[in-house]
Amino acid sequence: MSQVFRIDKLDHQGRGLIKTDGKVIFVENALPDEQVEIEITKEKKNLKEADVVTYHSRSMHRVNPICPYYALCGGCHIMHMDYESQCKWKEEKVKEILNKFMRQMILFPIQKIVPSNPLGYRNKVTLQVDKKVGYYEKRSNQIVPIIHCDLVNEKMNQVIDAITNLELKNCSQVVIRHSDYSNEIMVLFHMSTDNYNKKIIETLHPFVNAIYIKHKTYQLVDGKPYLEEKIGNFIYRISPDSFFQVNTKQAEKLYELVKQYAGLTKEDTVLDLYCGTGTIGIYLSPYCKKVLGVEINHQAILDAKANQKRNQIDNIEFICDDVSNRMDKIENQYSVVVVDPPRSGLDSKTISYLKDWKVSRLVYVSCDPVTLARDLQALEEVYEVKELTPVDMFPETYHVECVCVLYLR
Ligand SMILES: C[S@@+](CC[C@H](N)C(=O)[O-])C[C@H]1O[C@@H](n2cnc3c(N)ncnc32)[C@H](O)[C@@H]1O
Repeated sequence: MSQVFRIDKLDHQGRGLIKTDGKVIFVENALPDEQVEIEITKEKKNLKEADVVTYHSRSMHRVNPICPYYALCGGCHIMHMDYESQCKWKEEKVKEILNKFMRQMILFPIQKIVPSNPLGYRNKVTLQVDKKVGYYEKRSNQIVPIIHCDLVNEKMNQVIDAITNLELKNCSQVVIRHSDYSNEIMVLFHMSTDNYNKKIIETLHPFVNAIYIKHKTYQLVDGKPYLEEKIGNFIYRISPDSFFQVNTKQAEKLYELVKQYAGLTKEDTVLDLYCGTGTIGIYLSPYCKKVLGVEINHQAILDAKANQKRNQIDNIEFICDDVSNRMDKIENQYSVVVVDPPRSGLDSKTISYLKDWKVSRLVYVSCDPVTLARDLQALEEVYEVKELTPVDMFPETYHVECVCVLYLR
C-alpha cells in the first residue's frame, strides 16, 4: 500500500528529504512541503531513494522545466524549482554545511548569493559519445541523446546539432567551448586513434573557429589554436584543455569579489595559488606591487604567460608546479594569498604552510562548501574568517561557488 509523505526539506543535492521510522528517504524531483506518494528505487541500511508516483500537492516554487531531457539527463538537478528559490536554497545549503563541518556556530556574515542568468550561461559543454551523442543520464554512464541544451547559447546549440549528425567512430567525447568576447567556437574531439572522419571539418568549418583532435596529444586540424575571452579589462587565451570559468559573466563578478576581499594597496604582494591561466592574478595585478601564480597544468601556464604578454603586465610571474610540492620553495614574502583549488580543497601541507606564513589576508575561492568548511576549520587557529559570499556560477544545478576572506588574528 502506498503512503503519502510530506517533503521536509532539500538535501545538499537538491533532492526532497523525508525522515520516517529512523530512516531518511531521498526523493528525486520533490520540493519542500509537497505531499507525495513515492516508489522506493533503492534501499540501503539507513536510507532509501525514491521517485514520486503522484503529487498530492505541489509547491508554489515548482516550475515546468524548459528542457525536454530534464527527467532523464544528469546535467541539471533543480530545474523544477524557480530561480529565486534555487538561490535561497543555495544560501541555506552553504550555511548548513559550514555550521555542520566547521563544528561550531559560524559567527561571520554570509552575504546574499550573487545571482546569474539562469539559462544560456555555459561557455563549455562536454558531449559523451558511444553510438549516441549526448549527456550522461542521472547517476549512470548511459547516454541520453540530445540535440539542444538550454544552458548554452544558440550558436553552441547549432554546433551540438551539427555534431549529432556526424559519424563519430573512435570518438568518446566532444568538448565545445565558446567565447562571448569574440563569439567564436572551439571543438575538441577525444579519439582512440589518429584517424578521424574528415567530414567533421567540412561540416563544422562554417560555424567553428578551431577544431582539435586529441589522441595522446592535441592536434589542431582546422582554424586557430585558441579562443580569446574578455573579463574586465583583460583578454585571456583559452587552449583546448586549460581550465576557464564556465560562466563568463559570473567570472567577472567572482573576480571583483576577490579584488574587494583582497583589499589591495600598491604595497601588497599577492600569491595566486591554483592560478589556471592566470586570470585572477592578472585581474589583481594593477592594484598591487607584484603577483606570483602557481599552477600544475603546463598548458595553462603557457596560456598564463601568453595572457601576461597580451595584456602587457610586467608585475606578474608564473610557475608550473604542484602547489603542495612548491610551498617549501616559495619565500614567505606575500601579504595576500588567493587560493582557488579544485573540489578536493587544500591539502594538509599547504594549509600548514599558510598557517606558518601568517599572511595578512587570505582569499579562498571554493567550488565545494564541504571541503571549504574543513579547510576553514583548519585555518581558524591562525586566521579569522571575516565574510563569505556565495556566487551562483551553475544555475539549475546543485553546485555553488563561495568566496571568503580571512584575516590574520
Ligand atoms: C578551480 S580552477 C581555478 C583556476 C583559476 N583560478 C581561474 O579562476 O580560472 C583550479 C586549478 O587548479 C589546478 N590544480 C589542480 N590541482 C593542482 C595542484 N595540486 N597544484 C597546482 N594546481 C593545481 C587546475 O589545473 C586548475 O587550473
